Amino acid sequence: LIQPVILSGGSGTRLWPLSREKYPKQLLPLIGDDSLLQATIRRVDGVQGAELAPPMVVCNEEYRFVIAEQMRLMGKPGSVILEPLGRNTAPALTLAARAAIKNGADPVLLVMPADHVIMDGEAFRGAVIQGAALAQEGAVVTFGITPDAPETGYGYIHSGEAFGAGAAKRIARFVEKPDLETAQAYLREGTYSWNSGLFMMKASVWLTALELCRADIAKACETAWDQGKTDGEFVRVGKEAFSACPSDSIDYAVMERLAGQKGAAVKGLPVGVVIPLSAGWSDVGAWEALWNVLPKDDAGNVAQGDVLMQDSRNTLALSEGRLIACVGVDDLIVVETADAILVAHKNKTQDVKKIVDRLKQAG
Ligand code: GDD
Ligand code: MG
Repeated sequence: LIQPVILSGGSGTRLWPLSREKYPKQLLPLIGDDSLLQATIRRVDGVQGAELAPPMVVCNEEYRFVIAEQMRLMGKPGSVILEPLGRNTAPALTLAARAAIKNGADPVLLVMPADHVIMDGEAFRGAVIQGAALAQEGAVVTFGITPDAPETGYGYIHSGEAFGAGAAKRIARFVEKPDLETAQAYLREGTYSWNSGLFMMKASVWLTALELCRADIAKACETAWDQGKTDGEFVRVGKEAFSACPSDSIDYAVMERLAGQKGAAVKGLPVGVVIPLSAGWSDVGAWEALWNVLPKDDAGNVAQGDVLMQDSRNTLALSEGRLIACVGVDDLIVVETADAILVAHKNKTQDVKKIVDRLKQAG
């Protein structure tokens, strides 16, 4: 049994002004009619040879109705675990693992971020089948992407010797968010892949690994889970216990330790493996990435809504209401909404976050 677990906690500030605290990017139909969350849920349809449990979404309680409604609209009801506040991905996954093992089951969790684009669903599902077999035997499975830039926002996986009959390799080293120089060196070496942020492991394997690496997080999540209350499809965990839980990511809390490079080696950890994933993966973190994955006209423009392009190239213009006219411009991002307009150079879209930070400070 494979249990899809969708992590939907981020707010996507770099996609402002479309992505807002009240309506984060994974809930928006950025590409086609589905929201990124719905596309993520749908992506596992057609995984062959394994039974799939209904989706389990872990999110902030603020988004419960939008998320439940999006699941209902697509005919995929499931369970929704509500966090009173964000504690990053390690606690979120731990709650999901606890939910999955109730009633004595121990499914393979397929952990998926809600805010990624994967163009080639077939290739993705093929990799999931491979991953399921390895996870069933007790491994923690990651999926590696061939890097094409020294991105510092990703985890880097150095693959070691072959593992099993397929293309899987042992993780020799896992480095989360290296600095630019280190990332450049990894790219030159050519033996590193990006961590896609997708994981597979048995629920019990995750709980054991976390207990060994971060007993404090494991304990806090256990208490929060035990105090949890079920309300229809929603599970609300104990607020005080979860607030007291330290914040950390799957990557820092466990993945870096699996390869033994963080402090004294922890004994008894599961083996970490990486399966290459070539499936048009993209973490649409910022506007430039969105421009990258959207269909473009001959001049490289993406126009959504009421937009006129004149003698412009490689520009993304997105209007929610008023007409946007672009004349003689290249490499721009223009986003119009009811209360804000963004005009940004396409190479600077990471810095949109700085505007959001300033807006937050100003209250
Ligand atoms: N439920 C819940 N609660 N979900 C969360 C929380 C939380 O507190 N924090 C983050 N998430 C969700 C995000 O919405 C996203 O879908 C996913 O978990 C990953 O979190 P990010 O915050 O986006 O992580 P990242 O992008 O910095 O790094 C991860 O992904 C990279 C690939 O995109 C790491 O796994 C990297 O190693 C990896 O390269
Ligand atoms: Mg991310």
